[in-house]
Amino acid sequence: MDQKQQVIDTLSKVLSNELNSAEIAQMIEVPKTSDLGDYAFPTFMLAKLRHQAPQQIASDIVAQLDQSAFEKVQATGAYVNFFLNKAAYSADVLQDILTKQQHYGDANVGKGGNVTIDMSSPNIAKPFSMGHLRSTVIGNAIANILTKVGYHPIKINHLGDWGTQFGKLMVAYMKWGNEAEVKQDPINTLLKYYVRFHREAEDDPALNDEARLWFKKLEDGDEKATYLWKWFRDESLKEFKRIYDELGIDFDHYTGESFYNDKMQAIVDELKQKHLLEESRGAQIVDLDKFGLNPALILKSDGATLYITRDLATATYRYNTFHFVKSLYVVGMEQEGHFKQLKAVLSLMGDEWAKDIQYIGFGLITQNGKKLSTRKGNIVLLENVLQDATKLALDQINAKHPDLPNKDEVAHDVGVGAVIFHDLKNNRLDSFDFNLEEVVRFEGETGPYVQYTNVRAQSILRKAGIKHIAPDTALQLSDANAWDILKLLGDYPATVLRANNEYEPSVIAKYALHLAKAFNKYYANSKVLVDDDEKNARLALVESVSIVLQNALALLGVKAPAEM
Ligand code: ARG
Repeated sequence: MDQKQQVIDTLSKVLSNELNSAEIAQMIEVPKTSDLGDYAFPTFMLAKLRHQAPQQIASDIVAQLDQSAFEKVQATGAYVNFFLNKAAYSADVLQDILTKQQHYGDANVGKGGNVTIDMSSPNIAKPFSMGHLRSTVIGNAIANILTKVGYHPIKINHLGDWGTQFGKLMVAYMKWGNEAEVKQDPINTLLKYYVRFHREAEDDPALNDEARLWFKKLEDGDEKATYLWKWFRDESLKEFKRIYDELGIDFDHYTGESFYNDKMQAIVDELKQKHLLEESRGAQIVDLDKFGLNPALILKSDGATLYITRDLATATYRYNTFHFVKSLYVVGMEQEGHFKQLKAVLSLMGDEWAKDIQYIGFGLITQNGKKLSTRKGNIVLLENVLQDATKLALDQINAKHPDLPNKDEVAHDVGVGAVIFHDLKNNRLDSFDFNLEEVVRFEGETGPYVQYTNVRAQSILRKAGIKHIAPDTALQLSDANAWDILKLLGDYPATVLRANNEYEPSVIAKYALHLAKAFNKYYANSKVLVDDDEKNARLALVESVSIVLQNALALLGVKAPAEM
């Protein structure tokens, strides 16, 4: 079935003395243009081994190998070019997709192993900004991709629900707050207190001391402090959950920072016992010089724990609880150094599983070139963005398809899907600018464009009066116009594996855009519904495109409406 494997096997038979299949596999290229065939094998390496001209070798290989499985094989310069047999290839690929449906591209490289994913992890009592969106949707897409290739992902929301900011909030609330106002609009109100605290503390530094005192009370279990903390946390969580519902994303655990309060002492003891702690100006540190990293600050001089102390406890807890084969952290680039330190300390502690910790960074979202930040009040609330996106989607539906039933639901799927898709189509490490009008357009490199292409495929099938093409029917397609689509379809399983290896959902998003583009081009040039010998195969192609587009969107966490 695998066409590349066919090429490898054919070459192996004539080159077995010089190269093994793995080496051949690595050397095979996909030519830039289809007039050079579908796969190409360069002969430069053999030229060195044989001390011969590469052109000569290319034509020798063509003369020797078995061409019967291919449309043709030819030597062009230093390359051996393979042209696949289109009819046979199309029948193979289409049959595979029609048989497996949404399971096309499934793999079992994960063998059911647990993978924890630390994702989203917003800080309590602060708004869920566009910045948090990235960790949430990238983490979710990675979880979907992991499931597809046979892992068992465990999505953990490591809420920032502990720390000195709670001291600040308590002080602000007691000075300027009122309960009704918080209940009415929790996050905005808490944010307002937080911003005001920072403003006032600039002129009145004593406020900071008060905040420290209240945080200390919280740590000591003071009743009032605990009550306020819990209340702020509950109200914030309610709002976060509303946003996750909008996005269609859920979590397996909401174990935040506070969950590890009673699990840090054991780590500190272990570090001590393993002689890894050193005193430095009153603080306790782990020296990471030999890793080329700054020392990890484990305890402040007053005995207070730090962010990394908590993450050491977190990582250890996760290993002991889930025995993960991999542990992922989807967190913004500014924390890359922190996760390097974390991994280094764990490996010093002798935790063999530290090597399975994988930090997954991502770039910033900017607006008009400026960074989005929460502290200064220069924030874009994700919820507003999703609402605006839905409105824009509805406008376009009203223009194109005014009598569509359940318009609001579709507009929601399109608007929210557009925001998610836009986030995922960029290489995750790249920063990108966010312009809502661009993001929600039905044409161009957008989520709605992919959704719309699927809708178009579905409507062709409806017009043909057909739901599914049976996999055991005539599926040979010789139409050269369909060739780009067929090759893309055949490439989907490898694409999923690549996205998995690179923790890169953009591989799937870009693939979906290519496939959608190839399909729209095909549709503009070929008449699918004409009655001839290949009509069944053409409909199978249309259904296969729809199946794969839906699957790709599902991996990204984007809905695929049947009509829009
Ligand atoms: N709450 C943190 C923040 O918003 C992210 C937490 C990431 N996860 C972790 N285990 N440190 O910056």
